Amino acid sequence: MKIKSALQTAAETFEKAGIESATADAEILLSHLLNISRGELQAKSFTDAEFSEVESFEELVAKRAQRIPLQHLTGQAHFRRLTLKVGPGVFVPRPETEVVTQLAVDALRVSGNANPIAVDLATGSGAIALSLAVEVPNAKVFAVELSSDAIKYTRVNFADLAPDAVLVQGDLLDAFPELNGTVDVLVSNPPYIPDEMIPIYPEVHLHDPSLALYGGADGLDVVRSVDSAAKRLLRSGGTLIIEHADMQGEAVRELLLASGWRQVRTHKDLVGRDRATTALA
Ligand SMILES: C[S@@+](CC[C@H](N)C(=O)[O-])C[C@H]1O[C@@H](n2cnc3c(N)ncnc32)[C@H](O)[C@@H]1O
Repeated sequence: MKIKSALQTAAETFEKAGIESATADAEILLSHLLNISRGELQAKSFTDAEFSEVESFEELVAKRAQRIPLQHLTGQAHFRRLTLKVGPGVFVPRPETEVVTQLAVDALRVSGNANPIAVDLATGSGAIALSLAVEVPNAKVFAVELSSDAIKYTRVNFADLAPDAVLVQGDLLDAFPELNGTVDVLVSNPPYIPDEMIPIYPEVHLHDPSLALYGGADGLDVVRSVDSAAKRLLRSGGTLIIEHADMQGEAVRELLLASGWRQVRTHKDLVGRDRATTALA
């Protein structure tokens, strides 16, 4: 079968299934199957090349049309400089978290400490923690994750990408007591969706783990735990960075100000929505 027509048929199937990134998804799935880059696939498509793995591609297309996340089908997610292993049971890292991670990278670089300590609470696939370890190699990075399903992927990603970074399984509320008062930068992308607010995309509400999404009635239960853990862990002058939903900027600022944090500021993501709040201990 010709690559070009297979891609066209797949993209039409995806459009009918309501997938916004139909053409991109078709190309990513077929390049993954053929083990070539997306650029190579596009070049082959342009020259009317054929491929033989038609049945396998049709199976992948059928699964994606059922709104199984693209990253679960390829088994990987790209995040900043990293390719992370992901699948059912672990939260697929999002582009907006790349911006939040930049705040932590910047804070680590100006920490004034030759070997600053960074902590990522609720690390999921390890996206934030591993980016910090790779991009700020002089930092000592610690991460915690509660979910037994998620941490199977986290362990593989840590072993592959930053074997010196420390990963533990547990509740972020009481993680790393040995680091109390010593941490330079603490970052977290906790679950923050209010329980009643079910996300519209099936990829999210059917396939991201509930533990990764929902944060109680106002969505801020785990943010409150992050606040409490951060007060215990950060050194005086250390930086706290919390990702949250676009409508939670004011609520998170109020929560942190009431808790005694200084220089509380909310930051926008690439499309101008409130996305993270930072504060100094
Ligand atoms: C929104 S996901 C973010 C994952 C990752 N930080 C990222 O940005 O891709 C939230 C993560 O918090 C974890 N989690 C939820 N409650 C937790 C807790 N009390 N302690 C530690 N991890 C928790 C979930 O299992 C999930 O992996």
